[in-house]
Amino acid sequence: MTEANKQITKVVVVTGAGQGIGKAIATHLAGDGYAVVIADIREDVARKSADELANLGYRVAIARTDVSDPESCNQMIASAVKEYGRVDALVNSAGISKPGPSLDVTPEDWQRMMNIQLNGTFYCCQAAGRQMVKQGWGGCIVNITSVTAQAAFPQRASYCTAKAGVDMLTKVLAIEWAQYKIRVNAVGPSHTETDMTRTLAAQGLYDIGTVSKRIPMGRLASVDDIANGVSFLCSEKASFITGQALYVDGGYLAYGYF
Ligand SMILES: NC(=O)c1ccc[n+]([C@@H]2O[C@H](COP(=O)([O-])OP(=O)(O)OC[C@H]3O[C@@H](n4cnc5c(N)ncnc54)[C@H](O)[C@@H]3O)[C@@H](O)[C@H]2O)c1
Repeated sequence: MTEANKQITKVVVVTGAGQGIGKAIATHLAGDGYAVVIADIREDVARKSADELANLGYRVAIARTDVSDPESCNQMIASAVKEYGRVDALVNSAGISKPGPSLDVTPEDWQRMMNIQLNGTFYCCQAAGRQMVKQGWGGCIVNITSVTAQAAFPQRASYCTAKAGVDMLTKVLAIEWAQYKIRVNAVGPSHTETDMTRTLAAQGLYDIGTVSKRIPMGRLASVDDIANGVSFLCSEKASFITGQALYVDGGYLAYGYF
């Protein structure tokens, strides 16, 4: 740890922060005063994201991480501690999407989804939780879930199931770790403008116009909409909020009309 990094007062690790929602979260939290660790399986996007934040004058480091590998998650937290001496917050945004008819999903595809979206979230929470307990002053974890944790989407059995698991994992960890002053919450985006969405649209698996009409506020979420929710949950303003899922969805889940 350098002399300058000894002065840092709060540190966040953001998985999947090389692009999309995770990158926006890293940027917002850097603006909130966090030193940031960009954790992503892709070193190229992690490096680009980190360079952009560094150019804005923020403290940033990268940790190449595969969240589906528990040892890699332990290393991610260890490298944050080595760099900054502490971990105050974790945001789990790493994820994949692979829609397909349930009759055709292979065991490998099913397991890959679970390994990244659900197991990966647990491994990162556990690694960060252990460090926060050791530090003794608590911390904050935000898991990125989805409206698909609550509303069923066709051709997304593994994705919806994994996200529903993340919602329950969030609640269990919240009640177990409240004694350590670790708050655990989730943010559930509806359809958000990212590469994930654009790729599905390009494959004809998603129609942005149709989806926008289904959202009462009439548009997809921006990555900043989602990052604002995370920023709130990581702030002192949310100091008595734990075990909650905040759906940032423009009214999507509330809408029961046709
Ligand atoms: N885009 C949406 O409409 C939407 C809606 C609801 C929820 N989400 C969720 O938000 C999160 C971010 O989605 P996004 O749209 O920004 O996706 P994205 O594809 O733009 O970014 C995902 C990032 O995760 C990284 N990643 C993938 N596998 C990884 C692994 N094994 N280990 C570490 N990093 C890995 C990728 O390299 C990438 O940088 C995901 O959990 C996704 O399920 C997205």
